[in-house]
Amino acid sequence: MTEKKSFNPFQIREQFPILKQLVHGKPLVYLDNAATSQKPTCVIDAMNSYYQYDNANVHRGIHELSERATGNYENSRIKIAQFINAFDSTEVVFTRGATESINIIAQCYLAPHFNKGDAIIVSELEHHANIVPWQMLKQRLGLEIRWLPVNDTGDIEIEKLPMLLADGKVKLVTFNWISNSLGTCNPVKEIINECKKHNVLTLVDACQVPAHQKIDVQNLGCDFLAFSGHKMFAPTGIGVLWGKKSLLEEFSVWQGGGDMIIEVSYDDFSPNDLPNRLEAGTPAIAEAIVLGQAVDWINEIDLLAAAEYESTLLEAATEGIRHIPNIRIVGQSVHKSSVLSFVFKDNSLHPSDIATLLNLDGIAVRSGHHCTMPILKKMGLPATARASFSLFNTMQEVDTFIQSVSKIQRKYS
Ligand code: ALA
Repeated sequence: MTEKKSFNPFQIREQFPILKQLVHGKPLVYLDNAATSQKPTCVIDAMNSYYQYDNANVHRGIHELSERATGNYENSRIKIAQFINAFDSTEVVFTRGATESINIIAQCYLAPHFNKGDAIIVSELEHHANIVPWQMLKQRLGLEIRWLPVNDTGDIEIEKLPMLLADGKVKLVTFNWISNSLGTCNPVKEIINECKKHNVLTLVDACQVPAHQKIDVQNLGCDFLAFSGHKMFAPTGIGVLWGKKSLLEEFSVWQGGGDMIIEVSYDDFSPNDLPNRLEAGTPAIAEAIVLGQAVDWINEIDLLAAAEYESTLLEAATEGIRHIPNIRIVGQSVHKSSVLSFVFKDNSLHPSDIATLLNLDGIAVRSGHHCTMPILKKMGLPATARASFSLFNTMQEVDTFIQSVSKIQRKYS
């Protein structure tokens, strides 16, 4: 095992060329990391290098470039398997992102195994990617969706879970690890352990996790886990579906096409083994390889130290914003990670206006429903402004953000 490097946010920051620019004449303060992360130089270089030297299709050629591309693509799968402590790299399926991963689980596992009366439990904290695929099955098959409630602070009411599981009709429980809109860091292991007592499968949406915390699927004990590359310093268009092999073996085929077959005749086809069976067509080769590079990069960082550092940024930002009049912080769990959502209590400025004004100070935050309309509606809101932090952000940036919000508040509300 390689020795971890110590964590130094300033050295890390140096590796992100995009941060060295002015926006509206001010240094860019990028606080939209929950939407997508920025990319370090080694990731950008790996993308260029692939197209400059190694580009070829995978699993289809015996020439040098194809062998190299195939080797690097499969090597990336192995890196990812090790990164999340999967049992075996064949449990790692490359997808376009977490959204596709969850849709595959819904369409290729839940749907073929559906029996009348089956239910699933979905936490109220989910983003649309972990709601709509189940609603599509509700429409198509009559799947019952039970909601695992979330309280006013943004915490899952885990004590309600046994009751929701009690009648034995639930096939799967799904929930995010870190909420993208409220920042709640959920008690994933506790939820999984409760589900295990009832022999119910679990799917963890880990989209917001790999850039902040270590993932260990064996230690968690979940059955499926999904995440996207672009939120963990890698490119868009690549993600991971991890599942226990015995379950993935039971998946019906997803898309049909090259690579997912062993043999095709005019009459029929025979599906390939895992994971290729679920990866039809030419995949996002460069993106998958570069995801492996992002994993190498994260592996060099002391993630525990980075998480502690991010907590100090979040605490400082929360404290700062708490003292600005007329602000409501949305999501007040004591277990939070890197996300600060807020609104003006009197609605004197819409979150989009707040984001527009912050942008004039060079500060990038997201505004809107964050693809989580249901939970925001439950909180009585159509939208929030959201600052989300990464390991390269600095206390000075937090100060700039607080001063800008304070200025906006004084001027407009
Ligand atoms: N789910 C992403 C976000 O939180 C797009 O902004």
